[in-house]
Amino acid sequence: MNQDSSFSFPQDAFRRFDETPDAEFYQQPRFVTHIDDAAIAAVTQLYREYFPANSTLLDLMSSWVSHLPAEVLYQRVVGLGMNEKELRANPRLAEYVVQDLNQQPQLPFAHNTFDGAAICVSIDYLTQPVTVLRELARVMQPNAPLVITFSNRCFPSKAVAAWHALDDRGHVALVQQYLEAAGQWQPIELLDRSPAPRRSDPLFAVVGRVNKPEPTQVE
Ligand SMILES: C[S@@+](CC[C@H](N)C(=O)[O-])C[C@H]1O[C@@H](n2cnc3c(N)ncnc32)[C@H](O)[C@@H]1O
Repeated sequence: MNQDSSFSFPQDAFRRFDETPDAEFYQQPRFVTHIDDAAIAAVTQLYREYFPANSTLLDLMSSWVSHLPAEVLYQRVVGLGMNEKELRANPRLAEYVVQDLNQQPQLPFAHNTFDGAAICVSIDYLTQPVTVLRELARVMQPNAPLVITFSNRCFPSKAVAAWHALDDRGHVALVQQYLEAAGQWQPIELLDRSPAPRRSDPLFAVVGRVNKPEPTQVE
């Protein structure tokens, strides 16, 4: 039984071909991009639409690039990922945390810290996605957007079995189910932002907003 006890996936849904610690796989920095330029532009455009200027953002499962629009200034962007060299080289991050979310899914941030969050081409590597999404709802402000993007590429040995079992439409439905199982995510939008012409990498997004009460004001 995995820790997402309310989530009715088979036990094997979150197994991976490579069950060695993620720290070993991500030990070497990879200064590459994981989707092509047109798909990255689609990610950047989503961020332009959903993340207001001057907001405080979390780039979860981050690397040396965050794909945020160059012309927009944010109050503070925090990254969390697996490789220290990549995170240190990321020019958009004001601070970063190295943490294995598959070993420690609790996020090291206070309640209501962030005005928005992104997970780019990485949700397929989470073995406890519902716990992580509950944590995101805790650390984000009411109504803040979470933009989850993905394409049709992955590190096959580290993607969970459920991801391998599904096609593009199935991936969108799976991520929607993760958010619904986590609770506190409403509304949830399902988007196909694949660039035209279709020669480039496809790009899908699931965007949820945190549906929780506003924090009570202390006089
Ligand atoms: C395909 S890369 C995507 C990086 C970046 N988001 C981007 O858009 O280029 C996958 C990222 O997920 C992160 N990641 C993978 N497994 C992780 C884990 N167990 N805990 C935290 N981050 C993880 C890695 O650090 C890596 O940067």
